[in-house]
Amino acid sequence: MSIEELKKSVEEIIEEANKQYSNIDDEISLNEFKNNFLGKKSSLTSFFSMMKDVKSEDKKAFGEIVIKLKSVLNELYEKKRNEINEKKIDQRMKEEKVDISLPGREEKIGSKHPIKAVIDDIVSFMMSLGFSLKEGPEVETEVNNFELVNIPLDHPARDMQDSFSIDDNLVLRSHTSCIQARVMKEMRGDYPVKIICPGKVYRRDSDATHSHEFFQIEGLVIGEKVNMSHLLQTLTLLLKHIFGEKRQVRFRPSYFPFTEPSIEVDISCAECNGKGCHLCKNTGFIEVLGAGMVHPNVLRLNGYDDKKVQGFAFGIGVDRIAMLKYKIDDIKNFYSGDINFLRQFSKE
Ligand code: PHE
Repeated sequence: MSIEELKKSVEEIIEEANKQYSNIDDEISLNEFKNNFLGKKSSLTSFFSMMKDVKSEDKKAFGEIVIKLKSVLNELYEKKRNEINEKKIDQRMKEEKVDISLPGREEKIGSKHPIKAVIDDIVSFMMSLGFSLKEGPEVETEVNNFELVNIPLDHPARDMQDSFSIDDNLVLRSHTSCIQARVMKEMRGDYPVKIICPGKVYRRDSDATHSHEFFQIEGLVIGEKVNMSHLLQTLTLLLKHIFGEKRQVRFRPSYFPFTEPSIEVDISCAECNGKGCHLCKNTGFIEVLGAGMVHPNVLRLNGYDDKKVQGFAFGIGVDRIAMLKYKIDDIKNFYSGDINFLRQFSKE
């Protein structure tokens, strides 16, 4: 075959290849193309076998043309093969809608401990009435815990509370009333005082409704012309906020060394609505806090002029409130750290 003949036939082959190329749309037609133009029976292969018969002066040119043809055809083939592969992948992606991403690990969100929930609720309500938050240490001086709140050394009221001594001068506080003494000392006779003080307290006590550690919230107001009706109204607002408008609030005369007069405060039993049941021991009411007008001795002992100012104070048992609010029958649940118990209060 002469060079001229070869060139002509190469042109025809390329023309034909381009024509077929544009019709390839799947692997079958791609393979056909490969067989036709690059396979054993293709013209290209026959050109290679003709090489040995080509005149030696034409050999180089002949070879170059044939190799060029091979690369043109190869390029066409590769290009189409890639296109078809990509199409295949696209198609599979569309068909197999499998989400191959790992689901994220779920973050377990904790919940507020019911005691903390009650404290936060009461403190924020009292703050809305203009009270400010004060705290004190759990290890307290005997003077602050007893003496300065009018419980001298030989007072019988100590018996109930004098339970955890650290040494001769220090105790685990038995109530939050000691914060009253701390704050009054800090204020140096200045007023008004309007504080709310949550904290943990300790007493020698243990049954289904009492624990040796529990929480109280102390309230203290000192100012001119502060009177009993201020106290009653403040407590009524607070208790209705906690337990709902439907609950009745009842005040009974009582005794505390640091208040005079003193009262105990009950709410009507939510279980029986005041009719009487096992929860309220058939009284229809449940005691929730102690309160009273600050004893003049306490004012004087802590640097206030009891002729000029008066005060009221109250102490709420947080555990008692939480037990009533969430209908919990054993106080120990609050201190057991049982995750299953605590999960019940999760908002999830
Ligand atoms: N401190 C008292 C108690 O622990 C409660 C109380 C506080 C009563 C303030 C009156 C006024 O029982």
